This record gives sequence, structure tokens and C-alpha cells, in this order.
Amino acid sequence: MFTPDFYRNPYPVYSELRRYDPVHWDEEHQLWVLTRYTDVAAALVSPGLVRGAGELTMEADDPLRRVLSRMMLFSEPPRHTRLRSLANRAFTPRRVEGMRVRIQAIVDELFERIGGRRDVDVIADLAYPLPVIVISEMLSLPRVDIGLFKRWSDDVIAYSAGAIDMEERARTSVTALLAYFNAMVGRLRRQPDNTIMSALVEGQIDGSQLDEEELLANAILLLMNGHETTTDTIGNGVLALLQNPDQLKKLQAHPELIVSATEEMMRYDGAVQLRGVRSAQELRMGGKEIASGQTVYMVVGAANRDAEQFAEPDRLDIERSPNRHLEFGQGIHFCLGAALARAESQITIHSLLVRCPGLELGTDLLEWKSVPVFRGLKSLPVQV
Ligand code: HEM
Repeated sequence: MFTPDFYRNPYPVYSELRRYDPVHWDEEHQLWVLTRYTDVAAALVSPGLVRGAGELTMEADDPLRRVLSRMMLFSEPPRHTRLRSLANRAFTPRRVEGMRVRIQAIVDELFERIGGRRDVDVIADLAYPLPVIVISEMLSLPRVDIGLFKRWSDDVIAYSAGAIDMEERARTSVTALLAYFNAMVGRLRRQPDNTIMSALVEGQIDGSQLDEEELLANAILLLMNGHETTTDTIGNGVLALLQNPDQLKKLQAHPELIVSATEEMMRYDGAVQLRGVRSAQELRMGGKEIASGQTVYMVVGAANRDAEQFAEPDRLDIERSPNRHLEFGQGIHFCLGAALARAESQITIHSLLVRCPGLELGTDLLEWKSVPVFRGLKSLPVQV
């Protein structure tokens, strides 16, 4: 695992692990690797497996640790319940549905920028700018500053996804984000608007459920989680279609299949490949003893290709039903932004296929990011 070949195509390694050692101890990295659907699904909801470094970092002096430990993604009940319930009230399905028209308008604007160009990079021209524009609008962040806060947020994501060498940069960036978000919260208190961020700020006053640091940390989390995974989902999805021309043709002929097609693209080659957690107690899994304090990788990318759960798992089938993939997790940490990510991916891929019926892959050389948690292309050149 975690070699350049693995990042190009992790699925053969997953398949071997699932078959011969589904609860695998990786001696080199000192962690457990779960690859079967049933084990990953059970681990995602297990109270014995916890996220984040625990309560210790809450009182740390270091701004980076303080912010990360206050994010719902790295919290467990009862704190998680409190943080998530306020976010649920702000991030309502109605608000997300209401964004569909706006998402379509932004996608149309991105196509206008492309103009008559025939060489398009699906990542740089569409998948990268769209989610960050959308989440900025939802968080009431001015578009002119996107370059700034996107860079800061990318640094924190990289560090929290395991790039330890990024620690110093992530600390500087988190400090900049805190100052920036603090000013924005002050503005929204004086002048509320109809964004999710404003709803979070108002909710904080109404229920006094979140203190100031928690509010800022979770707003930063929404910015962080709100874009990179969606970028990767769109890129991986378009590539999967181009590599499976029968499915591409079927979707072009039946655009109404976009909803099930998007779910299948997420299952087939998802943006989130794994989630790392820590055992809070001794656990037994697949006949193995997991000691307290050990790291466990729940590999959703492998679970999503398990033949015990999905017929012909290595085949892209845009009409697959049922399709209970684990790409958004399960249980109390189920992705808060799933509806938004689905809407963005569906609208972008649908628009691309409608506007560019002759879509073709523009290269044989694909470069993948080399991080274990996320799977995504650095660029995806196509001819339209
Ligand atoms: C296709 C794109 C996306 C994928 C694949 C994805 C995947 C995930 C997964 C697997 C988790 C659960 C992690 C766990 O079990 O600990 C998660 C949590 C989360 N996601 Fe997403 N996500 C996506 C897009 C988004 C978007 C667009 C947003 C926000 C605007 C978002 C916000 C969150 C938040 C706040 C959590 C933490 C929830 C909690 O801990 O209660 N995600 N996501």
C-alpha cells in the first residue's frame, strides 16, 4: 500500500487484502486496515472507534490543535451531538435544495469562461472552481478572496489527512483562517444575511450551544470539507465514464439516469478512500485483537468493491440498484454535506454531457494525488 503504483490504481491491492487478510496489521505503518464491506460498515458506527486525538488537545496552547479538536469531524458524543445538531439546523435539506438553481448558474458561468475552447481540463475548468465558489457563497465569504482562503484551507486539509511535514504551514494557515472568519462572524452579527453561516451565527446566539472557538472551527471545517472531495468526485466520475464508453453512451441517451449514475461513480472510484480512527478500547474484529489506542483505517474504497455486497463490483453500472455504498460514511458522522455534494456532482456532470456530446479523453497520462485518504486527479484533459 501507499506506493506510486498503489495511488495509480489501489483496487488490486484492496482485492488481495479483502480476500486473504481483511483485518490486516500493517507492520510498517503500525495500523490496522479493514477492507471488507461488513467490517468497514460496522467500524464506521462503532462507539469503540473514535476520531481525533481526544480531549487532551482541547486545552492545548497550539491554535492548530485547538481548532482541529473542536471540529465535529474529530469529536465524539456528547460534544459531537451538540456541534452536529446546530450544524444540522443550519444545513437543512431545504437550504441545500435551494442551492440547485445557483449551482446550475455557476456551472453555466464556468462554461461561458471556457467559451469555444476545445481543450478543456475538467478539473481546472469545472471541478476545482465550482465547489469552492458554492461553499464560499453558503458561508458568506467574498469571491474576491477565494484564492486566499482556498490556499489556507488546502494546507489544513493536507495536514489533517496525514501530511505531517505540513504542520508548520497548516498552523500559519489556520491562524490566518481564524482571523478571517472572526471578522466575517463579526460582520454577520451586525448584518445577518440568508446564508448558512449567518444561520450558524444566529443559532449560536439562540441556543448558546457553541462557544466562539467551536463556531469558528466548524465554519472552517465546512470550508475544508466543502470542496476538495467534490472536485475529486467530479473528476473521478467523468474519467470512469470516459473509460466505460457503453455507460457514457447510455447516460447520454438517458440523462434522467444522472442520479443513480452519480452514486455509482462514487462507489466505483470514490474521492474518499479511507477514514482513520483510533480504538478507545480493546476490540475483536475478524478474529483479530485490536488493542486500545491503535489506529484503524476503514477503507471505504475497498468496501465499495466487495463482491459480497455488490454484484460484479469492478464493473461500472450506472443503473446499479440497490447501491448502498459507504462513500459518505454511516452513523452519527454521516457526511453533513452529502446532499450538497450530490447536487454539485449531478449538475456538473449532466451539464458537461449535454453541452459536449463528443466528449473524449485528451491524454493517456493521468496523474493521481499521492495521499491515502483522498483519491483524485491532478488534471483531467478532455476534448469537447
Ligand atoms: C463527494 C463529496 C464528499 C464526500 C465523499 C464526503 C465524505 C465524507 C465522509 C466519509 C464523512 C464521514 C467521516 C467519518 O465517518 O468520520 C464525511 C463527514 C463530513 N462531511 Fe463530507 N464528503 C463530501 C462532501 C462534503 C461537503 C460538500 C461538505 C460540506 C459542505 C461536507 C461536510 C462534512 C462534514 C461537516 C462532516 C463531518 C460530519 C460529522 O462528523 O458529524 N462533506 N464526509
